[in-house]
Amino acid sequence: MQNKVSGFVKQTAGFTPEDIIRFACEQFGERLKLASSLGEEDQVLTDMVARVQPEIRVFTLDTGRLFQETYELLAKTQQRYGLRYEVYYPDTRAVEEMVREKGINLFYDSVDNRKTCCGVRKVEPLKRALANTDAWITGLRRAQSITRATIQTFEWDEANGKIKVNPLAAWSREQVQEYIREHTVDTNSLHAKGFVSIGCASCTRAIQPGDDIREGRWWWEKPESKECGLHNNPNRPVK
Ligand code: ADX
Ligand code: SF4
Repeated sequence: MQNKVSGFVKQTAGFTPEDIIRFACEQFGERLKLASSLGEEDQVLTDMVARVQPEIRVFTLDTGRLFQETYELLAKTQQRYGLRYEVYYPDTRAVEEMVREKGINLFYDSVDNRKTCCGVRKVEPLKRALANTDAWITGLRRAQSITRATIQTFEWDEANGKIKVNPLAAWSREQVQEYIREHTVDTNSLHAKGFVSIGCASCTRAIQPGDDIREGRWWWEKPESKECGLHNNPNRPVK
């Protein structure tokens, strides 16, 4: 599979993100989905998908702890594009058990607890979201963090046994914002309040100008541990 994925990277060298989406549609057809957390990158990809292939299914993992502003953007985006949105939720019993054992805000107590919560609220629902697919599109970019510095446009996602497509891998935040301006893409109203990378409300805060863009996520943890399990890739070289 690694060979196939490397082949895709080579075949699409120099492609624009739209070309990569088109290429992925040709390769995977119905068995391709876009993962959207409603972040800036995902809003850009949603806009591109709506132009290139509006049949693609788009899914959001609703952890139950998202910001009200994120739900507002989800509703607005659904209305604007009329795409095939799927919202996935954590397993109720797993959440109940976790909270009973470890408390409602367990994630602040240890990295292990935080990973347990992300596991229940994101990683397990992701597995259901990816059932009946061969590949998923994400908004990952190399410049987002040290854990993502070597991301390729196509990667083998070992944890899920799927191909991950990252059309914006090489884009800078400026390119993302330029696209947003040019196509009047809707974005989260929290960006105007200093929020950049936005996840769960309990685990995201605003940052100061000049801070690393993922500084506001799990701000109490070290940068190396700041992945929630959706994007861990033991095969990706560390830069
Ligand atoms: S996270 O792993 O730290 O939460 P980040 O917020 O940077 O990830 O998002 C990276 C990509 O993962 C997004 O562009 C999107 O494709 C996918 N993703 C992250 N969170 C979700 C979510 N809640 N629902 C669907 N996709 C998501
Ligand atoms: Fe739980 Fe925080 Fe992970 Fe959301 S980001 S799933 S609240 S630990």
